[in-house]
Amino acid sequence: MIPDSFIQDLKASCDIEDIVSGYVKLTRKGKNLVGLCPFHSEKTGSFFIYPQTQSFYCFGCGAGGDTISFLKRIENLDYAEAVRLLAQKAGVPVPEDSMDDSGARLKARTLEINRETARFYHQCLVSDVGKDAYRYLIERGRTPKIIRRFGLGYAPDDWNSLVDHLKSKGFREEEMVASGICGRTKKGGLYDRFRGRVIFPIIDLRGNVVAFGGRAMGERGPKYLNSSDTPVFKKSKNLFALNFAKASKAPNLILAEGYMDVIAIHQAGFDNAVATLGTSLTEEQARIIAQYTDTIIIAYDSDNAGQAATKRAINIFSEVGVKVNVLTIPDAKDPDEYLKKFGPERFQMLLEGCTNALEFEIAKIRNKYDVSTADGKVSFLKDFARLLADIRNPLEREVYLTKTAEELGVAPAAITAQINSIQKGRKNAQAKKEKNDTSIYIGDIASVRKDMDRKRNLKYAVAEEHIIEILMKNPDYVPHFIKQCAPSEFVTEVNREIVTLLCDRIQAHRSVEPMALSADLSEEAMDRLSGILASETIQRADRTQLDEYIRILKEHGQQRSEQEIRDMDPDEYLRYVESLKARKS
Ligand code: CTP
Ligand code: MN
Repeated sequence: MIPDSFIQDLKASCDIEDIVSGYVKLTRKGKNLVGLCPFHSEKTGSFFIYPQTQSFYCFGCGAGGDTISFLKRIENLDYAEAVRLLAQKAGVPVPEDSMDDSGARLKARTLEINRETARFYHQCLVSDVGKDAYRYLIERGRTPKIIRRFGLGYAPDDWNSLVDHLKSKGFREEEMVASGICGRTKKGGLYDRFRGRVIFPIIDLRGNVVAFGGRAMGERGPKYLNSSDTPVFKKSKNLFALNFAKASKAPNLILAEGYMDVIAIHQAGFDNAVATLGTSLTEEQARIIAQYTDTIIIAYDSDNAGQAATKRAINIFSEVGVKVNVLTIPDAKDPDEYLKKFGPERFQMLLEGCTNALEFEIAKIRNKYDVSTADGKVSFLKDFARLLADIRNPLEREVYLTKTAEELGVAPAAITAQINSIQKGRKNAQAKKEKNDTSIYIGDIASVRKDMDRKRNLKYAVAEEHIIEILMKNPDYVPHFIKQCAPSEFVTEVNREIVTLLCDRIQAHRSVEPMALSADLSEEAMDRLSGILASETIQRADRTQLDEYIRILKEHGQQRSEQEIRDMDPDEYLRYVESLKARKS
């Protein structure tokens, strides 16, 4: 037990405002502070901090308590762990009496063993002994990048590779058994529990490796083997990939059935997928999910078992007040297979709840405009007509035309007239083009597209590249930079990717050595960054230079014409609005 007197002193020495503001953006309101509640989703702040009583309360969801209860909830910790975390934040050592100490030490050792084990298995996967497993993953469509990101591994097909390795690292036998990663034979020897399997490490919210799942590569043994509960792990309280998903900017979480589904979904660019760990959903897991989203998208397998599990999950979520969207996955057995067959865009369509591509496109332009205004309606209808002009099937065109005309309260004939004029214009243009066009079609290769993006915005791209160069050389300028310019204001896609990662890493005090960045950057971004570093254009990489380039960058957006704004896709448009807002404040 941690002595009560220590906890009282600790609480007295920490200010709730400091601790909470590490998680929630607070604004002052008289004596108190207010922000958006991190425990339920809301648009106006009803989450209050009361410095006088060192407590918090949310008028929306009723969550309340002191600094320690706040940490418990937000980090999903038990009481003692929350106290330790608070002590760590305050920089004071926790006095432990001897009994508790042994428990804490065993936990710490278990975590060390797990980390070493994950490292060992990953090393095996990328070395000769794991080459079949590596090939297996690649053949299943995984990329080297995603394999690294998830720290996947391979447990060699013998009885003591891991035991020997851990022994050589100085771990004791009891510790190895307690971690659940090794078993003990009747004769008293140790053996590896995972053999000849692809390994999925399970990582908790604080980045600790807490358990493993292992998939058989052949027909031998059960398909999956999972760690049993240990001092640091309870299956029913953890979710696979929540460590990544919790940082996602997506508005909700996706719940899939399997490890592979989750990884495939992340690989496709949706970083908000999680899975349970070889058991069906528990109420505890649903409650954890409730802390991060008010709507969950269930993407279970399309077989009967998956559908039955979906029904169960719906009931559990309704108990804890989470809304459910069910993703029906047509023509594939699970999200992994669906993504392989149809790709990320179609998956996005499923997520948007649209049954077909056209509906999805319509929804997309609809989001772009405010159709409650006359101007917005006109712009929307223009885009809409352009979209319908592409539809060959007149019946299909008619259906969507009538439906949309009705929703917007306009005469269908008006839209038909638009469509006709677009089609006529296109025919003429086509005829003209065929006459004098001899150029060849290059195709929409990503790198070509990104290169064009740079060329089209050359002035800003160059400014961005100078900013990146200066920040790489002077990581201490990052706070100054961020105050004036959000990474999202970068105009070109590739540079935006680079600067976002740079800022994130620097703020997290992580290295920005080019080698350290390569794992997280796309190929094009890595190429561009290497180019920037190689050319070393700036001699004087100081703050005034930085400010000058920021100023140039800021010119962008001020000069967007109405037509340009209309042509933006929704993401681009949002960024543009953000940049305007940032300039005003
Ligand atoms: N599972 C398990 N034990 C099994 C089978 C399944 O723990 N014997 C769990 C695993 O967490 C697995 C999930 O249930 O990820 C879904 O099972 P399944 O659909 O059979 O596997 P997939 O994840 O689809 O795996 P794969 O794509 O590799 O076949
Ligand atoms: Mn499956």
